[in-house]
Amino acid sequence: MFKVNENYLKLPGSYLFSTIGKKVNAYSAAHPDRKVIRLGIGDVTQPLAPAVIDALHGAVDEMGRAESFHGYAPDLGYEFLRNAIAEHDFKARGCEIAADEIFVSDGAKCDCSNIQEIFSLDNKIAVCDPVYPVYVDSNVMAGRTGVYNAKTETWSDVIYMPCTADNQFVPELPKETPDMIYLCFPNNPTGATLAKAQLQEWVDYANQKGAVILYDAAYEAYISEADVPHSIYECEGARTCAIELRSFSKNAGFTGVRLGFTVIPKELKCGDVALHSLWARRHGTKYNGAPYIVQKAGEAVYSEAGRAQLRQQVDYYMSNARYILEGLKAAGFTVSGGVNAPYIWLKTPDGMTSWEFFDYLLEEVNVVGTPGSGFGPSGEGYFRLTAFGSRENTVEAVDRIRGLQGI
Ligand SMILES: Cc1ncc(COP(=O)(O)O)c(C=O)c1O
Repeated sequence: MFKVNENYLKLPGSYLFSTIGKKVNAYSAAHPDRKVIRLGIGDVTQPLAPAVIDALHGAVDEMGRAESFHGYAPDLGYEFLRNAIAEHDFKARGCEIAADEIFVSDGAKCDCSNIQEIFSLDNKIAVCDPVYPVYVDSNVMAGRTGVYNAKTETWSDVIYMPCTADNQFVPELPKETPDMIYLCFPNNPTGATLAKAQLQEWVDYANQKGAVILYDAAYEAYISEADVPHSIYECEGARTCAIELRSFSKNAGFTGVRLGFTVIPKELKCGDVALHSLWARRHGTKYNGAPYIVQKAGEAVYSEAGRAQLRQQVDYYMSNARYILEGLKAAGFTVSGGVNAPYIWLKTPDGMTSWEFFDYLLEEVNVVGTPGSGFGPSGEGYFRLTAFGSRENTVEAVDRIRGLQGI
């Protein structure tokens, strides 16, 4: 008789966004006349930029001719894309990252959940609390997190680094030494960022302790302030302790197109073993590459036209963020984020729990957000709104929330 991977059975409840989806669908089915505005899941709404569309059309035509047809992509991704990434995302920011240290993939969710495979099950992970749930759940599936305590909603073998109003949602160096440290800045869900000096402290700490930092920079395009680093490799010493995960989902609207990449510097080693080689092996064995068509679209993101068009798209979402931030502040809510990130983190009013506030907003004003407690125990009493809606919907949602009585 076969057996299942019992680690999966340890996962509590269902994935946060499925629970939200079910609640919203049930509400909409019961109230078909109401227009529900979704500022919950972090999905984009603007169409792909014209430069990207042109590249997609061009690549599709190439695939239709024998002389320019492309089959399997190279293991690490096409050089034209890796060169563009190395040039624009790293060299232009003074970071020393070579094209052959970049592994192209179909997105950061897969990469940030798969990357743990190249590490020992004995490693202890540290995560921010609240946190993007994928980091923890992928380690649960692997069997690295110990026993779940339903009361505290924590795992016995995970080091939690609370990010609360008391520390401006910036994690402090943990008391217990971790082996793998997940950091995501600009942060999902809180929208907080680290200044360069703060990130440098983490890099120094990781090098000193022999830990690896898994740095998720999926939202770097939203950074507006000068002293906030776009890449961990802006910090000295990061090449020996950090892996960076990037996505085209939020900077270029590729949530449905699918493209991302992981950077592993060749100096990042455990003894004599380079993590670069392990990931190259894993990639070569388990992955057959992002489609040529999509990688051509990714290349267009870095073209002059693509960069200008996408700057406008990011500005569009960030003007939504400002509208939410200012509108809710004016209505008396305690809010943060929204300056270097497309997420607004709001304290629930009147001591409501995150899910109580979710139900309240859904029922009273038909606005959907994400309950903070879904991101970890320190998210309780908070609520996340995204700036990824259309302008119209964002304005309408904020105006509806502002019109609530008794808040
Ligand atoms: C922090 C973070 N990392 C990774 C991802 C996933 O990115 P992708 O669409 O490239 O899989 C998301 C998406 O919401 C995210 O918020």
